[in-house]
Amino acid sequence: MEPLLTGARFDRALRGTDKVRAALAGKRVWPAAQGATPDQAREALFAAIAEGRPILSTTTRVPVARESELGVKSALLHGLSRAFKPRETASAQVGRQGKRGNLAVRELLRRWASGRHVVSITDLHARGTSLERDIDTTELSRFNLLPLGTEGMRRQEMMTLVVSSRGNVTDSHSDDPDGSNHCFVGRKLWLAWETFEGRRAGLQDCSRDEIDQNARFDLAAFASLKSARWWTVSPGETLFLPGRLSHRVVTLESYLGIGSFYCTPASGLENLSRWYHHGALWSLDDPAGENRDLVDDIAIAMTRKLRALRRQTRQSQERWGLDCSALGLTQWQRRWSPARRRKLLASHPHFAALVEEIQSVAEAREMPARLQSSGNAMPRSAKTSFAAASPLSAAGKPA
Ligand SMILES: [Fe+2]
Repeated sequence: MEPLLTGARFDRALRGTDKVRAALAGKRVWPAAQGATPDQAREALFAAIAEGRPILSTTTRVPVARESELGVKSALLHGLSRAFKPRETASAQVGRQGKRGNLAVRELLRRWASGRHVVSITDLHARGTSLERDIDTTELSRFNLLPLGTEGMRRQEMMTLVVSSRGNVTDSHSDDPDGSNHCFVGRKLWLAWETFEGRRAGLQDCSRDEIDQNARFDLAAFASLKSARWWTVSPGETLFLPGRLSHRVVTLESYLGIGSFYCTPASGLENLSRWYHHGALWSLDDPAGENRDLVDDIAIAMTRKLRALRRQTRQSQERWGLDCSALGLTQWQRRWSPARRRKLLASHPHFAALVEEIQSVAEAREMPARLQSSGNAMPRSAKTSFAAASPLSAAGKPA
C-alpha cells in the first residue's frame, strides 16, 4: 500500500480509506517473474497484449551508450544535452499545478536534475536525433507496425524520452494505440481502468471528456471497477499498456524513461474496433484531416504484414506474436457483441479483410498442434472448433 499512500501525498484524488486501499490490494499488477526463459517471457508478453492486460516486463533490455562508464542517469543526461541545441524548446508541465508551457530543453533538464522543481517533459522525440544512436530501442520496436507504415502511422509511434520530477501528476487520460514505457531511473505509480467502464462509474478522461480543470477521479469508484489495476514502474522494468485503458500517473521518485506507442496483430482487432466504433483520439483535433484514413491504413498494413509473415520462418512469426492470434481473436469475440462485430465487418471492408487474415493465421497455427495431439488423425477438411466460432461465421459470411 506504500505506493498508494505516497501517491496520495502528491495527488489528493488518491486519498481514500483503509478499506478502499485494502480492496485495491488484489488489483495490483506485479512485475513479471524473474528467471523466465526468453520464450516464456515472450509468450507471457503476447498473451497479455492479446488479452488487453497491462504487463510489467523485467526482461526488455534498452541499452544506453556509455551507461557502464557513466551510470545510466548521467549517460542519459549527457545524451539528451547533445541531442538538443542550446535554445531548442520543448512542451512541458511546470510547477505543482502542472501548467503547460514551452521552455528550453536544457533549462528543463537543469530543473529536473536540481530536484527543487516539479517538471514533466514528454515531448523529447528520439527519432531523427542522436538519441536514436545513444538508446537502443530495438526490443521496444520489434513487433511494432507503426514505424514500418505510412507517414501518418510513423507519426503516431512517438518514441520520446520521459523526464518527470517527484510529485508530478499526469491527469486521467487515454492514448490511441497500446504503449510501452521503459524506466531507466526513478519510480512511477500508475492507476488504469477501461475507459468506458470508468465513465459509467463517473471517472472522467481528459482525452474524451469536457474537463474544466481536473478530471473527476475518486479512489473508491476506481476500486469498484472490474477493470481497475494499479502498479509501480521501477528501473529496468517495462510497462506494456493496452490502449483500451485510461490511466492516471504519479511520479513517486524523479524519473527518466522512454515511451512509445505500438500496433501489433495480437491486439489489433480490439484497438481497431475501438477506433472504428468510438472514434480515434487522433481525429478529435485534426482540422487538416491528416489522420482521416489512419485507422484504415493500419488495418491494411496489418493485413499485409500478416500475409508477408506467412512466408517467413516460425521464429519471425513468433517475434510478431502470431502464436497469440487465436487468443486475440477470442478476446475480441468476447468483448464485442455479435451485433457490433457484424456492423464493424459490414461497414469497414479493410477491417473485415484483417479479421479474415487473422482467422487464417490462427487456424494455421492451431492445426499442427491439433494434428500432433490427435496422432495425425484429423482429416484435412476438418473444421477446428475455433473456425466454427469465427466472427465471419457470426456475421453470416463464409468462414
Ligand atoms: Fe498516456
